[in-house]
Amino acid sequence: MKQVRVFNSLQTLSRSCASFLSDRIEKACHDGKTFDIILTGGNTPIDCYNELASILSDGRFPLKNINWFFGDERWVPADHEDSNERMVRKYLLGKLKIPEENIFSWKACTKEPYKCAFDYNRIIHEHFIDRNKVPDILLLGMGEDGHTASLFPQSRVLLEAGEFETVSKDLPVFAASVYVPGLNTWRLSLTPRILNRAQQIIFLISGEKKRESFKKVMNGTSDIPAAWIQAKHCIYFVTTDIWSNGASPHSRNR
Ligand code: 6PG
Repeated sequence: MKQVRVFNSLQTLSRSCASFLSDRIEKACHDGKTFDIILTGGNTPIDCYNELASILSDGRFPLKNINWFFGDERWVPADHEDSNERMVRKYLLGKLKIPEENIFSWKACTKEPYKCAFDYNRIIHEHFIDRNKVPDILLLGMGEDGHTASLFPQSRVLLEAGEFETVSKDLPVFAASVYVPGLNTWRLSLTPRILNRAQQIIFLISGEKKRESFKKVMNGTSDIPAAWIQAKHCIYFVTTDIWSNGASPHSRNR
């Protein structure tokens, strides 16, 4: 079921999302279970990550059971200002005492793009598929063109050395190297094959320029990647410039 939660500002959206996440994390920690979170990159989640870090840093949560993955990565080193990993470490993970073995880096730029993707594909396989587990939480954003993670419309996926395939919701791998012609750069991205297995999917979307793409997602239009992401539990945290209140049966204003 698609649920839309509409907020008057990115600040209130971020607070609400951080509270939602910390509630889930707290429950998992008290149950003594491991908890696997796939994080989004971009700018929209920064306030939420800041809020979540301040909630989790009070020591109540045994964070050793939480594993942190990245939904995608830019083709830059992990210490580069454009790196999603660098952003997440700066605003969230670096403020908490997270064991390094619980943070799963794409290690972008350490080898060829398809080899980085191949290695992350193995991580996903070993952590989830081999153990018959699914990601507990998946955070995603969406670009103006309807991309999500680094699944861009008309981008090309390099599956094995030399084999290209146009990005689609049916890619046969969990992690892929993606060439984005519009940006003239490589990206690394998880694919719907693992993203759609998440127990709970949360989109964070803000910015008037994304309004048209979001309407397509709500209509299930298949020509944009964000619409390929569908799961039993999917909540869209959006601001009012994306979705006017009351337009969706599930929208609630905060
Ligand atoms: C990235 C993200 C990407 C992002 C959207 C929205 O690497 O940038 O993973 O999918 O979520 O591009 O980005 P903003 O939040 O900056 O608008």
